[in-house]
Amino acid sequence: MTAALRRTISQLFPGKPTFTEADVPSQNGRVFIVTGGNAGLGYHICKILYSKGGTVYMLSRTESKALEAIKSIKFEFPNSSGDVKYIHLDLSDMTTIKPAVEAFAKQESKLDVLFNNAGIGAAPEGTETKQGYEVIMGTDAIAPFLLTQLLLPNLQTAAKTAPKDSVRVVWTGSPIIEDTYCPPGGLLVSHLSSPPRDNFVNYALSKTANWYLASELHHRVKSDGIVSICQNPGNLKTAVWDPAPWIVRNMMRITMHPPVYGAYTNLWAGVSSSVTLADGGRYAVPWGAWHPNPREDLLNALKSEKERGSGEAAKVWDWLENETKKWA
Ligand SMILES: NC(=O)c1ccc[n+]([C@@H]2O[C@H](COP(=O)([O-])OP(=O)(O)OC[C@H]3O[C@@H](n4cnc5c(N)ncnc54)[C@H](OP(=O)(O)O)[C@@H]3O)[C@@H](O)[C@H]2O)c1
Repeated sequence: MTAALRRTISQLFPGKPTFTEADVPSQNGRVFIVTGGNAGLGYHICKILYSKGGTVYMLSRTESKALEAIKSIKFEFPNSSGDVKYIHLDLSDMTTIKPAVEAFAKQESKLDVLFNNAGIGAAPEGTETKQGYEVIMGTDAIAPFLLTQLLLPNLQTAAKTAPKDSVRVVWTGSPIIEDTYCPPGGLLVSHLSSPPRDNFVNYALSKTANWYLASELHHRVKSDGIVSICQNPGNLKTAVWDPAPWIVRNMMRITMHPPVYGAYTNLWAGVSSSVTLADGGRYAVPWGAWHPNPREDLLNALKSEKERGSGEAAKVWDWLENETKKWA
């Protein structure tokens, strides 16, 4: 069996979760943002944080869906001391990002944890965001990059007084980065300017971008005490695969787990005491553990040219910084 296949299988069948809601301590007084919190595993992240007393901002694109989700969360935990609130954010439209951050900043000065969770896994070939980016890369990586940049002051404010290692940015990967859809050498800047036509490749590259961004952000904010890491939540029975061809969905069914398990991976990364600043830039696997044997070519892309790596992660960061500054 090849190393890639072994890595994929171990992430598709990781056994039983060991970090669950029972392990999440009180989140009283803490502030969270969960993108795409109205559905799938984001919904469970919001629900668990709220049930533990956290103030959770659900940044979602459809108000009716978000309000419905909030109602259901509050109904399930009527005695929580926390709160869940909706702010509009459409990651396929860069013009919605700054207003979302401004709406947040009007209500809160600090942000303890940002979960860059929202994403799409498939779309009809050739679909683009409002600003003309390939839609999967645009939604899953380009817009989250800008959102994170704009929220840095709030994360920095939290880090000044919060317990050590508790202020975090959690990025979202996928098992797909382990296989050939993510080409040798990983994501290159040229993929951003000239996206491949294959959507599985675009999805794999967008999730590789999340790891690059976790690592690059770590280098930039470790001195502030902010932890930036990436996690593969696991393969989960959610709507993310609905647009994929029927045959693909059916083949994947046997590898799929309850959506709340994906929330466990996120929560392990976002609030467990197992994660420290020294882990910045690392990649977690389901249901909350560090990747035992990441791809060498991706590790190489994370290293700068000075460290004898390819420096691709830094090049992608620079490209995104330059590209998104008009909406900052
Ligand atoms: N499920 C899996 O097997 C799996 C595996 C690996 C990684 N992931 C990743 O995990 C994350 C969560 O996925 P999920 O499985 O929970 O999928 P899901 O059930 O489809 O939920 C995705 C969430 O993202 C939101 N979203 C999509 N496009 C958006 C946009 N343009 N602006 C704002 N929000 C948007 C969705 O909003 P709407 O409800 O309005 O569509 C929804 O709230 C994604 O990043 C996904 O790639 C999932």
